[in-house]
Amino acid sequence: MQTSSPISRPSNRVWRHLAGALIFAAGLSGPAASQDFHKIFEARCLACHGHAGPFVRERLSVVNGRLVGSDGQDIEAFLAHHKGGLQGAELELFLEVFRAQLATGGLYRERCIFCHDPARDFARLNLIHRDGQLLGRYTGHDIAAFLPGHARLTEAEAARMTETLGAFLRGGR
Ligand code: HEC
Ligand code: HEC
Repeated sequence: MQTSSPISRPSNRVWRHLAGALIFAAGLSGPAASQDFHKIFEARCLACHGHAGPFVRERLSVVNGRLVGSDGQDIEAFLAHHKGGLQGAELELFLEVFRAQLATGGLYRERCIFCHDPARDFARLNLIHRDGQLLGRYTGHDIAAFLPGHARLTEAEAARMTETLGAFLRGGR
C-alpha cells in the first residue's frame, strides 16, 4: 500500500505505483524478489548448474506458454520434485524469474545486438555498480532511468533489462 504524505507529489506517487504494477505484470516483482531468488538459487542450485542466466537460456524455453526443459518436460512439475523440490511462492518466484530471463535474453538479441556487443561483454565493458545503482562507466548515466524509451523499451522491459545487465556484473550470471 502507498502511504500518502502531504509533501509527496501525486504525479510521483502515481508513477511509482504504475511502474510497480508494470514490473509485476512483466513477471518480475522488483529487486526484493530478485534478491530472494538469487539467495535461494545460490544456496540450492548453483553448485550443480552454475549461474542461473546462462543455464536457463541454454536449457529452457517457452512452448505454448509453458516453460519446458531441454527434452520437453514441463518445468513447473519437474521443479516441484527436483532435488528437494520447490513449493508455493518459491516455485512461482523461480518460474517468474526464469521466464523473465528468457524474455530479456530474447529481447536483447532482437533489439540491441545490432548496435551493441553481446550483453555480457557490453555490461562488463560499459557499466558499473555504485551504491546499488547501475551506471554507465564512462557516461555516468543512471541506467534504470536511461533505458525506458531507449530503443523503444517500455518501463517494464527497461526494468528487466537493467536487472539482467546488472546481474552480469555481480558474478558472471
Ligand atoms: C546435486 C546436483 C543438483 C542440484 C543441487 C540441482 N540440480 Fe537441477 N539438475 C541436476 C541434474 C543432474 C539434472 C538433469 C541432468 C541435466 O539436465 O543436467 C538437472 C536438471 C534440472 C533442470 C532441467 C534442465 C533441462 O535441461 O531440462 C532444471 C530446470 C533444474 N535442474 C533446475 C534446478 C534448480 C532450480 C535447482 C535448485 C532449486 C536445482 N536444479 C538443483 C542436478 C542438480
Ligand atoms: C540504433 C542503435 C542502438 C540500438 C538498437 C540500441 N542502442 Fe543502446 N545505445 C546506442 C547509442 C548510440 C548509445 C550511446 C548514446 C547515448 O548515450 O545516448 C547507447 C547507449 C546505451 C546504454 C548506456 C550506456 C552507457 O555507457 O551509458 C545502454 C545501457 C544501452 N544503450 C542499452 C541498450 C539496450 C538494452 C538496447 C536494446 C533494447 C539498446 N541499447 C539498443 C545505440 C543503440
